[in-house]
Amino acid sequence: MHSVDAKTEQMIRSVLAYAENRLRLDPVPLDKGSRDPAQLDVAVDGLLGEDGHDPDQVLGAWAAILAPAVISADSPRFLGFIPAAPTKASLLFDMLVSCASIQGISWLEAAGPVHAENQVLRLIADRAGMPLGAGGCFVSGGSAANLSALAVAREIAKRKFASAGQGSRRLRVVVGADAHSSVGNTLRLLEMDALVVPTAEHRLTGDAVRRAIDADDDPGSLAAVVATAGTTNAGIIDDLAGLAAVARQLDLWFHVDGAYGGAGLFAPSVRGAYSGIEQADSLVLDPHKWLFAPYDCAALVYREPALARSVHRQDAGYLDVIHDQAAEWNPCDYAYHLTRRARGLPLWFSLCVHGVRAYGEAIEAAISLAKQTAAEIRSRRYLELIREPDLSVVLFRRIGWRPDDYTAWADKLLDDQVAFLPPTTWEGETVARFAFLHPHTSMELVAEILDRMADG
Ligand SMILES: Cc1ncc(COP(=O)(O)O)c(C=O)c1O
Repeated sequence: MHSVDAKTEQMIRSVLAYAENRLRLDPVPLDKGSRDPAQLDVAVDGLLGEDGHDPDQVLGAWAAILAPAVISADSPRFLGFIPAAPTKASLLFDMLVSCASIQGISWLEAAGPVHAENQVLRLIADRAGMPLGAGGCFVSGGSAANLSALAVAREIAKRKFASAGQGSRRLRVVVGADAHSSVGNTLRLLEMDALVVPTAEHRLTGDAVRRAIDADDDPGSLAAVVATAGTTNAGIIDDLAGLAAVARQLDLWFHVDGAYGGAGLFAPSVRGAYSGIEQADSLVLDPHKWLFAPYDCAALVYREPALARSVHRQDAGYLDVIHDQAAEWNPCDYAYHLTRRARGLPLWFSLCVHGVRAYGEAIEAAISLAKQTAAEIRSRRYLELIREPDLSVVLFRRIGWRPDDYTAWADKLLDDQVAFLPPTTWEGETVARFAFLHPHTSMELVAEILDRMADG
């Protein structure tokens, strides 16, 4: 299994040929998504057993039945959720990272990969305007990053309370009503409670938080303020400057979840909306969403990485050696993980090959498409725009439609391989939602999708 024999040679040829063909798809088709499990069973029946099989037989089952049973997020027709639209360069380098089994745990074992990853983290920190000492690591996703960052926030608050002679207490965190679901899960896992501050415009502001805190019975239990730089459902950027000011005034940790929208830091047309982000104690940005990296890649940057290290560093006799290096920077010290792949490398390679400007242009393409789409929606009498898009998400309603109508429209779009854009809800109402990421999604496609709402 570990030597290069005839079977390995056959696999190198077949698997690389498959990968080459997949890489050359332009555009990537949407594919069909979920299938009847019985159909999938038939395809793979008997392949996984005590005895091995011919690699081409296994690859054939993969290619014929399993691989098409996805909805390909890297298709320009994928307009739902906010998943990924990786560059070809990043996909290629991801293969290299896998083939070379490159890890990114510690400086001792992986100084080169960690150095390259740190360059990308530095780029992100610079774009945000964070200080030179800022740093962190890449984790698997925004959820893992939010958990790791808020674990630090909690620990720092606990230390603060302990040094003030206050015993242990249940802590709370200020969040907007539109914060990502992973923030709620994080608070539950960390046994903290949310002080949810709803706002009419779905944009958390410093003033709203101040009012909520003034009216609160127990403001002394607050540990952090969580801001969202690009809400998932609507792409709204909270009032980061106002929230940072409240956090500073009350000595609370300021966490910015820019898992989706943080990429807008690279787009000059919207950069101004992020003012205040430079004050984040911790910042999350998912390159696997809108910085065109492959899964799974989330950047987690701390203003003072030493605080994160004091929380996340793992100690064991056999690990002493990794904490004993002259130029030590161990990504494993900055989040809840130990073993990790160097998942920032595909982004590093692609950024180096294409240049940062190309990234800004590709992000601007989605922002511009969202604006054009909003104008197109306003021009159609059977549609209603719900709000002007701030980033690349557009919410709108088809006048007169009920939830079933949206579902039927979306199902038919997928069946016909036109597009994937499942409906969402907005203030309790089922509505339609474009989430643009891929720079090749066209206005022609948008028009076709909207045309299909005309009669019905
Ligand atoms: C604002 C925000 N935060 C966190 C997440 C979770 O990120 P992940 O899916 O990478 O765990 C998302 C995902 O869409 C998001 O949009």
